[in-house]
Amino acid sequence: MTPTGPVQEPHRLRLPLPGRRWARRLLLLGAAASLVVVGVVAVGVSMYTQARVDTTGKVAFDQPLRIPPLLEPETDRDGRAVFDLRLQHGPAELLPGTETVTWGANGNYLGPTLRASRGDDIAINVANSLPEATTLHWHGMHLPAVADGNPHQLIRPGETWSPTWTIDQPAATLWYHPHPHGETADHVYRGVAGLFLLDDDHRVELPDDYGVDDIPVILQDKRFDDDGALDMDAHFLSTVGQLGDEILVNGTHGPYLDVDRDLVRLRVLNASNGRVYNLGFDDDRSFELIGTDGGLLEQPVSLRRVQLSPGERTEIIVRVDPGDRTVLRSDSPDIGLNFMQRRFSGGDDRFDLLELRAANTLAESPPAPSRLITTELPDPADAVATRTFELSGRSRINGQKMDMNRIDTVVAVDTTEIWEVTNRSGNPHNFHIHDVQFRVLALDNDTPPPHVGGPKDTVFIPPGTTVRVAVRFADYTDPDVPYMYHCHVLFHEDAGMMGQFTVVAPDETNQAPPQPPTDPRHDHDR
Ligand code: C2O
Ligand code: CU
Ligand code: CU
Repeated sequence: MTPTGPVQEPHRLRLPLPGRRWARRLLLLGAAASLVVVGVVAVGVSMYTQARVDTTGKVAFDQPLRIPPLLEPETDRDGRAVFDLRLQHGPAELLPGTETVTWGANGNYLGPTLRASRGDDIAINVANSLPEATTLHWHGMHLPAVADGNPHQLIRPGETWSPTWTIDQPAATLWYHPHPHGETADHVYRGVAGLFLLDDDHRVELPDDYGVDDIPVILQDKRFDDDGALDMDAHFLSTVGQLGDEILVNGTHGPYLDVDRDLVRLRVLNASNGRVYNLGFDDDRSFELIGTDGGLLEQPVSLRRVQLSPGERTEIIVRVDPGDRTVLRSDSPDIGLNFMQRRFSGGDDRFDLLELRAANTLAESPPAPSRLITTELPDPADAVATRTFELSGRSRINGQKMDMNRIDTVVAVDTTEIWEVTNRSGNPHNFHIHDVQFRVLALDNDTPPPHVGGPKDTVFIPPGTTVRVAVRFADYTDPDVPYMYHCHVLFHEDAGMMGQFTVVAPDETNQAPPQPPTDPRHDHDR
């Protein structure tokens, strides 16, 4: 017989029901939370890892380096050299076998090299066949403000702008690029840029056969979509905006250069929007630094590395041996950031840029001279004023964002001033002044290193440091049309890190607006 009494439950220790439920919930929650943490860490680690780009040893060097053609000017009735530039857009082959729609001058990507000599009267017709209004600025050029090509000289689609001026400065490697306010990063990234070489009669024996032993090296970083289109997006953790993972040199991907002389002069332009390069050679050979932004140094300096921030130029001479192969390389630049920010701002990146291939027999170049020129740099002893500029966040100078309708600074013509520029932010900046070539006096309180020892129009300013420069405003007064000074990280420039100055007759300086107050709170502004 089966017992029929009430079924006896086996004795068990029980938590009260609600407690059990909570324990299970906590356990689940804990598991979920640790999954989230593991997930976030994994995403973070992979984001951090992927943010580093290193192409050293991986570039095929299978494309001959393109050399931008020299643009031959016409001579007009007044004896002026007239250059014709047409800004246009269309497909270009930047990656071999891939079509990318880009912008350029007299072609679909980049522009020709302009060349003129001290004393030349020149005129440039800039025709805009682009779908947008833009400007063309002559970076590093001493010229009247109306000819500067800054945001005030907008060229609408279908229009032609024709500035004229007289070349009046030493031999130099200058360049041109668009400058419409708020759109400069976009227009430059699409590809409008070119070199503007100046010569003078001061003859020193340097390699000067354009495209043979005097080589333009325009560095630009690009990022391409899968379909070959230019990717304009910036990583949200980047302090300098858009960065590319491929380097083009004169628009060439994976370039090599055949060399048949034992000395090669490289005129390197950093035409990138926000990337800083730390240039040297893969075998660590030394080279002679002979020039900076606005001209030659007094004497060559032997170096193994030279750093170049956006907008800056450097001229170097490198010696090759018969049969030699050496690679121009960029090592991780020192941009003054902590390990997190550095990683997302290009500070850990390394690139192979250009392979030099020396022939088995080389013509002997004349030896590089030990003295080059006597520079015409401003003398700080002549300074009549000191001005301070504080860069804060990513968009302000002296607490203010760029305003096209505000003149920030008025200087008297024919005077020298000291400009003291401090980077009060945690972001890397540089400082460019239109119209002039300045002398760098000090980085913080140290004497400046040789790579900023010549004429400069753009200087790198790491976070927390102050750069002092002597700058002379020789001529060209115009109380109405300003020049610009700004950070040449184009994302910062577009965001507002730019100011305007006019050069006026001495009795007009009393119209100077007071210097805007500096406000450290703006440091947190992005
Ligand atoms: Cu290269 Cu204001 O510019
Ligand atoms: Cu400029
Ligand atoms: Cu900046």
